[in-house]
Amino acid sequence: MRLSERIKALTASPIRRLIPYADAAKAKGKKVYHLNIGQPDIRTPDEYFDAIRNFKVDTIAYADSKGRTEMRDAISGYYKSWDINYERDDIYITNGGSEALSFAVQTICDAGDNILVPEPFYANYNTFTKTALASIVPIPTKAEDGFHLPAKSVIENLINSKTRAIWISNPGNPTGAVYTAKELEMLVEIAKKHDIYLIADEVYREFTYDGERFTSMGHIDGALDRTIMIDSVSKRFSACGARIGCIAIKNKEFMAQVLKLCQGRLSVSTIEQVGAAALYKTPKSYLEEVNKEYKSRRDTLYTELKKIDGVICEEPKGAFYIMAKLPIDDSEKFVIWMLENFDINGETTMGAPGGGFYATPGLGINEMRLAYVLNNADLIKAANILRQAIAAYPGRLEAIKA
Ligand SMILES: Cc1ncc(COP(=O)(O)O)c(C=O)c1O
Repeated sequence: MRLSERIKALTASPIRRLIPYADAAKAKGKKVYHLNIGQPDIRTPDEYFDAIRNFKVDTIAYADSKGRTEMRDAISGYYKSWDINYERDDIYITNGGSEALSFAVQTICDAGDNILVPEPFYANYNTFTKTALASIVPIPTKAEDGFHLPAKSVIENLINSKTRAIWISNPGNPTGAVYTAKELEMLVEIAKKHDIYLIADEVYREFTYDGERFTSMGHIDGALDRTIMIDSVSKRFSACGARIGCIAIKNKEFMAQVLKLCQGRLSVSTIEQVGAAALYKTPKSYLEEVNKEYKSRRDTLYTELKKIDGVICEEPKGAFYIMAKLPIDDSEKFVIWMLENFDINGETTMGAPGGGFYATPGLGINEMRLAYVLNNADLIKAANILRQAIAAYPGRLEAIKA
């Protein structure tokens, strides 16, 4: 039977598609350090579990398609604590930031349209774009510039009549870049001039280091009606399984249209919204502690990677990933090889192959995204395994050259 061209054009997530190799390695008794996926090991705050335990109803009903009022108000209050001014009516609750992203693209793109995205980018942006029959036009960025944006003219030259938006992850996954206010102002100028949207994926808002001041797209005046804000409790509160996010914009017409998608999927889990709303009552000290922990993990993984011969990477300023260039022929082959053929005392490390984070063919082939979501001791062990694996790997670049 026929399958759609649309589904066949999708690529499997580089973060998840090699999981069967990890499962096979574990079935053989290997321990795998998972640096491939942004799944933190930090405890979800008790507020989440307590609220769910205390939620007593006789019937577990559908929630409002826009989201429960207390959930929308909790997020509106949270935004205000960041000096970002979204009211309840500017916010709809979604199944994670993922659904919000997918809804954003479907609301603004027709078949053949395109969206500009700084490259490398979070791999699932491809999926959300391609399911809307649109495409990503990559904005080139360089590791040596800390993956910051190129000049305005470079971005403007990529815009054509089919361009509907510029889409950023800030702080960036996989780059760790934290955009400056000036960069965001530049994007706003471009968006206004060309009358396009901005998609601001800020699910890592709390994760910036070294005193880096976070500027939200919601802080930039004059573009709130064209800024589609994407958010999530997944990373902020280490609540990835709750699947609660939101889409927010100060634009009534956009909200009226995207509501059709919200209504089409009826609602987001009632119970999860009860738990997630309570997360926003978590004392601020929780987020401060978590930030310190990630900074220390960033320092650990970065220091360990710098010790490995031939590895090139920049110190990330935000989120919890490092995009590292390795002296290997192909990071996908290398990840599989490590899972199938390499271990130190029964333990191995898994990263995410870099190619999936690029739209430009051939880029990222010898890069790997490593998530510093494990504790420091495990990160040291994982990096040590990686170091020895690179030395032993048959596709090590020096070996090939020799
Ligand atoms: C940049 C970015 N945006 C959005 C998401 C989606 O997260 P969720 O659907 O769990 O909210 C992720 C998840 O890793 C991400 O890294």
